[in-house]
Amino acid sequence: MKILVTGSNGQVGHEFTLLAPQSQHNIVCFDRHGLDITDAAKVKEVIHNEQPQVVINCAAYTAVDKAESEPDTAFTINASGAENLASACREVNAVLIHISTDYVFAGDTLSPYNESDPTGPSGVYGESKLAGEIAIAQQLEQHIILRTAWVFGAHGNNFVKTMLRLGAERDELGVVNDQLGAPTSAKGIADCCLTIANTIAQRNKQDIAWGIYHYSGAPYTEWFGFAEHIFDAAVRLNLLNNAPKLNPISSDQFPTPAKRPANSRLSCDKLASNFEIVPDDWKYHLEQVLLTVREK
Ligand SMILES: NC(=O)c1ccc[n+]([C@@H]2O[C@H](COP(=O)([O-])OP(=O)(O)OC[C@H]3O[C@@H](n4cnc5c(N)ncnc54)[C@H](OP(=O)(O)O)[C@@H]3O)[C@@H](O)[C@H]2O)c1
Repeated sequence: MKILVTGSNGQVGHEFTLLAPQSQHNIVCFDRHGLDITDAAKVKEVIHNEQPQVVINCAAYTAVDKAESEPDTAFTINASGAENLASACREVNAVLIHISTDYVFAGDTLSPYNESDPTGPSGVYGESKLAGEIAIAQQLEQHIILRTAWVFGAHGNNFVKTMLRLGAERDELGVVNDQLGAPTSAKGIADCCLTIANTIAQRNKQDIAWGIYHYSGAPYTEWFGFAEHIFDAAVRLNLLNNAPKLNPISSDQFPTPAKRPANSRLSCDKLASNFEIVPDDWKYHLEQVLLTVREK
């Protein structure tokens, strides 16, 4: 099977460049310079030339706070870019696996979100990602939208890297403890996409339940709990000499231009029933990421 990956210089996209050499599939990766998803003509040209059976879209505008002052750019990439891919996939009968986000929800409920729960983004980034989901569903039946949350990996910027940097600079740190979610490894997301692609290759396309799925790590925690684990592991693995003292703070004490969902928990049951994929243990992946960071 030929799989075309976009956004291959991002956290998730980069994982495909690592998986490609040993994959049973022919995985071709494009970074932003190789394929700008906002360029509709180029998207068509590349997808027609490559003739992939599956396209995995890891390209996105992910600067959550900056999106508040750059809504046009966020929508051009996250909505029009996604639509361009879906439209080109339809022309070559390819499946589109597209990554989306917990930010499509308001985050004001008390239990993990199911795929059918009402959306209600509270910022531009979430609105633009939701517009991308809607555009894909309108353009292309053969799509899987994989909503995920709290992504971390060895490549790129994320909460783990921020904690390591701040931990090296400071003796004391305030970390938010009133937002619930699940850290999710970029590698876990890439593996999940490839397992979905394998299932698509093995099954009759009529037997695939296209649409939206949730995938995140396990167990659920707060940013504060995640930070505690990061520092425990970082000290144990000699990435830091000492852990800073962590102080739990509320979201109100850490104001940001874009509001964060208090509840980012995603129920992953639908993915387990349809694709036999269960959430990864983020503590294991955290250890692997820290070992890679240490090697670098
Ligand atoms: N990060 C999170 O915590 C999180 C949480 C939930 C969902 N997600 C979703 O997960 C997916 C992957 O996120 P990530 O963390 O891997 O993001 P990331 O590290 O920011 O990577 C996104 C990649 O997209 C590329 N890109 C931006 N505009 C593009 C364009 N017009 N054409 C082609 N490529 C373009 C960027 O290129 P440059 O490298 O040149 O900038 C970057 O390499 C996204 O859909 C995101 O919305 C992320």
